[in-house]
Amino acid sequence: KTMPTSVAPMPPVDGLPVERSDPFDPPAVLAALREERPISRLRYPDGSQGWLVTSYPLARAVLADPRFSRRRELQRAPRRIAFEEEHPGPSEPGFFIGMDPPEHTRYRRQLTAHFTVRRMRDLEDRIARITSEHLDAMERHGSPADLVAEFALPIPSLVICELLGVPYTDREKFQHDTRVLLHLESSFQEAMGALVSLREYLHGLVVRKRSAPADDLISTLIADGALNDEEIAGVAVLLLIAGHETTANMLGLGTFALLRHPDQLAALRADPALVENAVEELLRYLTIVHIGPTRAALEDVELGGELVRSGEVVTLSLPAANRDPERFDEPDELDLRRSATGHLAFGHGIHQCLGQQLARIEMRTGFNQLLARFPNLRLAVEPEDVQLRTDMAIYGVHSLPVAW
Ligand code: HEM
Repeated sequence: KTMPTSVAPMPPVDGLPVERSDPFDPPAVLAALREERPISRLRYPDGSQGWLVTSYPLARAVLADPRFSRRRELQRAPRRIAFEEEHPGPSEPGFFIGMDPPEHTRYRRQLTAHFTVRRMRDLEDRIARITSEHLDAMERHGSPADLVAEFALPIPSLVICELLGVPYTDREKFQHDTRVLLHLESSFQEAMGALVSLREYLHGLVVRKRSAPADDLISTLIADGALNDEEIAGVAVLLLIAGHETTANMLGLGTFALLRHPDQLAALRADPALVENAVEELLRYLTIVHIGPTRAALEDVELGGELVRSGEVVTLSLPAANRDPERFDEPDELDLRRSATGHLAFGHGIHQCLGQQLARIEMRTGFNQLLARFPNLRLAVEPEDVQLRTDMAIYGVHSLPVAW
């Protein structure tokens, strides 16, 4: 690529930056890169050279481009993360997020019918009841309380458990394993141990449901007959992990963001019908998937004036892309009334989030009920003391002490 000579060459970025100066804004260096070099060199922790994409159009283009692969064995972690060894093996059966077509298609086809807007609407009443029961419990607990422990984490956990047919009484086990798996500082052995333990647990459940089916997704997948037990166990692990940590962090960090933007909070309180729009804007503004996703080039590809060589790994910064001023006006403002549609918080292309309709319903119900229940909801600690999840694969807050 020919760089304008007035711009000093920037050194390659050494590992994807995650440290923030503001809890809601992506690391400042990402905004600087987006301005100057929306596709720039990134040195991966394993020493390999790849790329970092920070603009909206380039990130979206890569996610839609079949010349870029999601196959697990081709990826490199953009910063050290326990889950990814230096040279990862192929995805295990059922873990279709790490596969390309046609394997990916085979799984996705089995699942899409169970995650349609209509199917998820059928769950609305149940989600509303689960939400109000947790708010009852939070009220009984009394002010102050940790919003993550009482509200943000248990609601999506219970919902995905009921959908899959996983006993919620086993939550300590899978919540613990998920934490170990997604913690950037876990050792590779610890992370693999957690994954194996989740897989064995769900495999046991699949075997039991084969002889005693119930009204749940695991039993339905067994009855459909297209996937074997090992594959269904892998699908269940993926859905369990993806289904509770993500929404939980949107609820936790989203509430923190609302409490720190009183005018926006007031607007949503005044007009609960705004919640649909508000959720899209919170997804854009907070973009909790802050590490990766990554894609590997299957051939030489010209991208944004650079030549990405076959085999090189491209990291897409979704938080940076969703703050691209070329795509969103005043991108660093939280504006619940704007149209944020087209944001990349759920990804884009064939791997776009399978659970997005479910997540939306959980968030709409969650925020509206929370605000209605606690008209005086406020932080119970100084904002600087809220523990941020820069050390986790999914960004958010570790806990959120609130009072009312
Ligand atoms: C994929 C974000 C909730 C299940 C993805 C991807 C993103 C994402 C960015 C794409 C990853 C890539 O391209 O490599 C989110 C966010 C959520 C959320 C921000 C909450 C607000 C959920 C829920 C479920 C779920 C509730 C399950 C019920 C999945 C699955 C995939 C996925 C299975 C892989 C899809 C595929 O490979 O075809 N999610 N997700 N997600 N998500 Fe979500």
